[in-house]
Amino acid sequence: MKIFIKIVSGAAGFIFLLLLVLFILGGGFMKRSYLEPWNKNYASKDTDPRVRLTAAGMLAANNHNMQPWKVKLDKQDPMVFYLYADSLRTTKEVDPLYRQMMITQGTFLEYVRVAGEKEGFHAEIDIFPEGEYEEDDILSSMVKKPVAKVTLSPVKPEESPLYNGMYLADTNRGNYTMEAPDSSQISRFLKLPDQDRLSIKLYTEKADLDKIGNYVMESAKIEAGVTRVMDESNAIFRANEKEKNKYRWGYSVEGQGASGFKRVLLQGLITMFPSINEGKGASENFIHYTKTAVDHTAAYAVITTSGNTRTDQVLSGMLYSRMILTGHSLGLAMQPLSQVLEEYPEMKQPYDDFRNDYAGQGQSVQMLLRIGKPETSAPNSMRRDVMSFIME
Ligand SMILES: Cc1cc2nc3c(=O)[nH]c(=O)nc-3n(C[C@H](O)[C@H](O)[C@H](O)COP(=O)(O)O)c2cc1C
Repeated sequence: MKIFIKIVSGAAGFIFLLLLVLFILGGGFMKRSYLEPWNKNYASKDTDPRVRLTAAGMLAANNHNMQPWKVKLDKQDPMVFYLYADSLRTTKEVDPLYRQMMITQGTFLEYVRVAGEKEGFHAEIDIFPEGEYEEDDILSSMVKKPVAKVTLSPVKPEESPLYNGMYLADTNRGNYTMEAPDSSQISRFLKLPDQDRLSIKLYTEKADLDKIGNYVMESAKIEAGVTRVMDESNAIFRANEKEKNKYRWGYSVEGQGASGFKRVLLQGLITMFPSINEGKGASENFIHYTKTAVDHTAAYAVITTSGNTRTDQVLSGMLYSRMILTGHSLGLAMQPLSQVLEEYPEMKQPYDDFRNDYAGQGQSVQMLLRIGKPETSAPNSMRRDVMSFIME
């Protein structure tokens, strides 16, 4: 006790107390249940393979970390389940046409497929088995029509080179070295599309890096100035461990690479001064982080499709997951930079220009991402409990 009193008197004591307060506010002593799904054994004891595969699917990259997935287990056939888009988890300001949401359905499906191989199940994925959505009433259509029917059949378990990558963070927003992927890595990516309607292009020339970098910055600045879009993102920011354990979805400081002690202190600061991460503060941070990312990028990639149907969007998401997992197996990381592809009115000009420059006639750009060798690994982000995805 005497020692404690000695420490807390004086300047060093003040700093110690301040750090302690920030540590407590940030949730430094709390258990992090929202990270449990990243443990390989998380669902391994569940006897239903469909639940185990859902636990793998939900680790996939997804727009705004909304995790907008619902899974319906077939009551008659224990080897069949259906994936639905969760119409209550849309981000309608930033994604008014629900394109990112559909891509996110695909990212889930590809993780299911890869986990299935490892577990000894071939996953037959039938996209929109009851037809695509009625576009004029799309939210009700999401409730009624499954995005996919997944039918499992037993096969010999395979050691998939992609499997381990599922347990690494999907998105790395940190710095990448200025060494672009080499030609053998590039050709691995270019071979990933498994249908004529999908393609991947990689850009490593200085002229393209500058041009795409300009698009990324221009669109980030536009987005930073559109209050309703920024507010939508800020509203799902979880400031500290208490909030992260409560919601288990949305954004958190991990998204900016903060981990360990720094994570807790930053959370403490944001909890004490929420304005750091709201309004003008959030817009400035967003532009600053985007600029740092652009300055530490030696390669960009785009996924394009020959049409822009809901099926094309889902297939693009499957391809994006395949890219992420292939990247992990090569020591490469990715970060989507979606702003210039967003379909709200303020973004129309750069959206049209980017499409003219980087998609062929009649094609759509579904994803734009930076790709490279990360300087540091990224921390895992929040995930909900697997059973919260399963529909009654
Ligand atoms: C369709 C789609 C669009 C995305 N757009 C962005 C983006 O513009 N910027 C970004 O930093 N991350 C973007 N992401 C990544 C998600 O924010 C990320 O997957 C989610 O927050 C979960 O984090 P994790 O991928 O690290 O698990 C996107 C992901 C998807 C699937």
